[in-house]
Amino acid sequence: MKKISLTGIKPTGDLHIGNYFGAIKPALELAKEYDARYFIADYHALNTMKDPKELNSTIRQVAAGWLASGLDPENVIFYRQSSVPEVFELATMLMAFTAKGLMNRAHAYKAASQINIDKGEDTDAGINMGLFSYPVLMAADIIIFDSDVVPVGKDQVQHIEMAQDIAQSINANYGKQILKIPQAAVQGNTAVVPGLDGRKMSKSYSNTIPLFAPENQLKKIIMRIVTNSQGVEEPKDPGESQIYLLYKLFADENEQAELAKLYRAGGMGWGTAKEELFRVTNRCLTPIREKYNDIMADIPALDKILEQGAEKARPIAAATVKRFRKACGID
Ligand code: TRP
Repeated sequence: MKKISLTGIKPTGDLHIGNYFGAIKPALELAKEYDARYFIADYHALNTMKDPKELNSTIRQVAAGWLASGLDPENVIFYRQSSVPEVFELATMLMAFTAKGLMNRAHAYKAASQINIDKGEDTDAGINMGLFSYPVLMAADIIIFDSDVVPVGKDQVQHIEMAQDIAQSINANYGKQILKIPQAAVQGNTAVVPGLDGRKMSKSYSNTIPLFAPENQLKKIIMRIVTNSQGVEEPKDPGESQIYLLYKLFADENEQAELAKLYRAGGMGWGTAKEELFRVTNRCLTPIREKYNDIMADIPALDKILEQGAEKARPIAAATVKRFRKACGID
């Protein structure tokens, strides 16, 4: 039997090419080898997103984004967390085995409370229970599907370790393996995607290139990439230039070698390099953008795909809850 890979996708903000190369592509790559279950973590998003219109539309945007990027719903069980209520039943059960002290140590909570402390405010000001107990719900997301591996970024490893801790204490309490212990698959070998200003591409730095920007906007954004003040005639170092690092993600090897030559020879201005970057970026993103626009033009069809995913997911989830209830004596 194939091993199971599972990951949650927080529906926050526009997808950008950092998400594409850092999370979407590697997760879709894993789906070739593993039985993959990928879901939109909409109840996790509720902790921070209280505007209903915004939440409703980002859920669809992110789902459409993954489908447009190549997620095949015939091959991957693709669903919304909120459509699998068994997850929330399991989360309640996990709570009984989760030390409060463990949650106190979660990075996201610690960071939020530290900001309060530094400002001289109450430690827990503005912190809701959803944020505090986030790792429990995340553990339920993972454990409910008997997941073997969880593809995540480094920042999520602590959450996976907490899921392991919780599942282990349950197995130890009942003296048998009721819940499978998941492992993190850290996406460490993916290249860091530089943003417009050269720092890591991230929404929080406002330096992103959106995945689905229309062509004219994409061009404008690429033209805004920050460069140094080297003149046209000066030879340039491709390794020092985020234009070239981005180019490598989209161009084939010949194109990469050609552009590197132009950099080193001198006589090429930054405008020319940006034009060339736009050409290959647009070549790669045009089919994805068109697919995305088609999907977004028919939201009922998109919702149906997600519902069909949930229908496949629920019996698997129900079986885990049943097994656990039986072990607890609540059956
Ligand atoms: N916490 C993850 C993030 O912020 C999203 C997430 C929720 C997740 N549930 C998950 C990831 C389960 C992996 C497995 O990106």
